[in-house]
Amino acid sequence: MSKEELELDTLEGIGPVTKQKLIDAGIYTILDLTIRGPMEIADALGWDLHRAIELCNKARMKLIELGKLEKDFVSASEVYKKRQAIERITTGSKNLDDLLGGGIETQAVTEFYGEFGSGKTQICHTLCVTVQLPREKGGLQAGAVYIDTENTFRPERIIEIASARGLNPEQVLQRVIVAKAYNSAHQELIVGELGSVINENNIKLVIVDSAVAHFRVEFLGRSTLAERQQRLNHFMHLLLRTAEAYNVAFVVTNQVQAAPDVFFGDPSKPTGGHVVAHTSTYRIYLRKAAKNRIARMVDSPYHPEREAVFILNEKGIDDPEEETPRKK
Ligand code: GTP
Ligand code: MG
Repeated sequence: MSKEELELDTLEGIGPVTKQKLIDAGIYTILDLTIRGPMEIADALGWDLHRAIELCNKARMKLIELGKLEKDFVSASEVYKKRQAIERITTGSKNLDDLLGGGIETQAVTEFYGEFGSGKTQICHTLCVTVQLPREKGGLQAGAVYIDTENTFRPERIIEIASARGLNPEQVLQRVIVAKAYNSAHQELIVGELGSVINENNIKLVIVDSAVAHFRVEFLGRSTLAERQQRLNHFMHLLLRTAEAYNVAFVVTNQVQAAPDVFFGDPSKPTGGHVVAHTSTYRIYLRKAAKNRIARMVDSPYHPEREAVFILNEKGIDDPEEETPRKK
């Protein structure tokens, strides 16, 4: 979309000082204003909420006028048209793609959760490569952003996966943009600033590995549980709004709760609990089974609950080899 018509100061009520304050808060366009919402705008500008709501409403009206945003009431055919713009990215495993109905979707948040070593980070690395594949090979010929919260991003692994998939590793590395998030507030800030990065670099995939780790260590104990859930809720909604506004795919990871909780209740319960669960569009539970990994689609409104088997190898993730029938 054209940058000029989305400039903050094309909106009545935004002068140079206000504009600068917004930019300092990572709000660069009027689309960002509507994505971040009045509470955050009030915070950034030191305004009361009422005034921030008015500004956000103005931004929304302008976007509707420009045809960049849906009206509040739209016909089903318009909803259908928007859904037609959804694109898919292959995971590199045909089994997993089938489970997902053809791959990872844009305009959605896909959550992979499972215990340590179940392959969450490996899936994220693989997707950074496969999103760059040409469309006839299941990619979108686009770049990726990797938000790394656990310091587990490895460029060497990207090189290996790219080479194994017949791509030029140097070029592939160029198109993966890495952001290290040092704490949950920083993580939120990075996501808030994604808009211009997405537009300027033809980004179609954003990874947050892991989405919940910082929140978990920063909000320990029962007393802070409600606050943690509230912050996570806010974060997940920000992801979903950004995914929809920019037609990109978000992939987040979430580690399952460790013992002793495992002894009570379901060990496959993700850390973020219900908040993450209800905000993610798709949730896939991963578990280890010897050398294989098993993925299960959980709670999807239109995917049957079934399982897919994949493996980890030099191509990142891959399908297990067909078992060759044993000679008698
Ligand atoms: P946590 O982040 O600890 O919760 O785990 P995770 O789910 O992110 O696990 P990850 O994706 O890091 O998977 C780790 C597993 O991937 C290891 O047990 C290895 O078996 C496998 N793995 C990691 N790197 C490589 C690699 O370079 N080649 C191959 N073939 N396998 C790898
Ligand atoms: Mg990991």
